[in-house]
Amino acid sequence: MSRQIITIRPSGHVFHANSGETVLEAALREGYMLPYGCRNGACGSCKGKVVAGAVDHGLSQETALPAAERERGMALFCQALPVSDLVIECREIGAVKDIPVKILPCRVQSLEKLAPDVMRIRLRLPASERLQFLAGQYIDILLKDGTRRSLSLANPPHDDGLLELHLRNYGGPFSSHVFTQMKEKDILRFEGPLGSFHLHEDSEKPAVMIAGGTGFAPIKAMIEHALHHRIKRPLLLYRGARQAPDLYLNELPETWQREHGIRYVPVLSETVAGDGWQGRRGLVHEAVMADLPDLSGHEVYACGAPAMIEAAKRDFSTRCGLPESAFHADAFTPAVAPGG
Ligand code: FES
Repeated sequence: MSRQIITIRPSGHVFHANSGETVLEAALREGYMLPYGCRNGACGSCKGKVVAGAVDHGLSQETALPAAERERGMALFCQALPVSDLVIECREIGAVKDIPVKILPCRVQSLEKLAPDVMRIRLRLPASERLQFLAGQYIDILLKDGTRRSLSLANPPHDDGLLELHLRNYGGPFSSHVFTQMKEKDILRFEGPLGSFHLHEDSEKPAVMIAGGTGFAPIKAMIEHALHHRIKRPLLLYRGARQAPDLYLNELPETWQREHGIRYVPVLSETVAGDGWQGRRGLVHEAVMADLPDLSGHEVYACGAPAMIEAAKRDFSTRCGLPESAFHADAFTPAVAPGG
């Protein structure tokens, strides 16, 4: 199989494209975030310059890449197939602020109850759109009465065919609607991606992930992103829930532990005598401190209820030596609830 070597300017990053892969596909696969929008040659968001080498422009549309620009060496990287080694010039996304926030319509593709009070919602975007985001970010569903409901994206960025959300039923108007009336093919509108919670890939410190309830959604996206990009740093997942049935999708972290060595510690806070639970009990952040009394060399990523986040931030800093800059969190409340 022929492989082309592609060098990005000005960063100097180098990646490889397999035969049949577009420049964008290859860059994303190797963990380089080039900007994109539609991924079908129509919007121009992925445009950059081919400084050396040649590409096949594939299905690039004239509206997004006029002939004059093509002659000047411009290309749509979501369509461009390298036919030689390349040097390209383009912007790379290094931070949340580099990603455009969009308002988009979407269609409910599927609804699936993961626990008695947790629904997995999968959303399909129009064929001409993709949402670029960083693992850990959320979207706001825009409701007809002008209010919003924030929900974390549970799918990793590379798996962006459908957007996945985990919604807990707190009894508010939106969750009640989802649990009683929403059906497949319903149309919604959302704004996103939003939020600054994301995996900081420039660190090699072991990352302790703490997920409370549906705070599992962005943590799932981060871990699947890390596995896809073969990120080497050790990952540990502490998951807090009230009772065993609240540990929805539990086979997933068990598989990560078995196949990828990600340590998985589920912790239940409302166990009752005789419930048969063999695992850890108590508050999830206290389980972390019991296992890791010195967090000075770690990074922490936490998503869940504000009380859990506040207690973890305070106690990790005062009792375990975690630097403030190494604590990353997304707190949700029932009213405005990223992840919830
Ligand atoms: S991402 Fe829209 S043209 Fe490439």
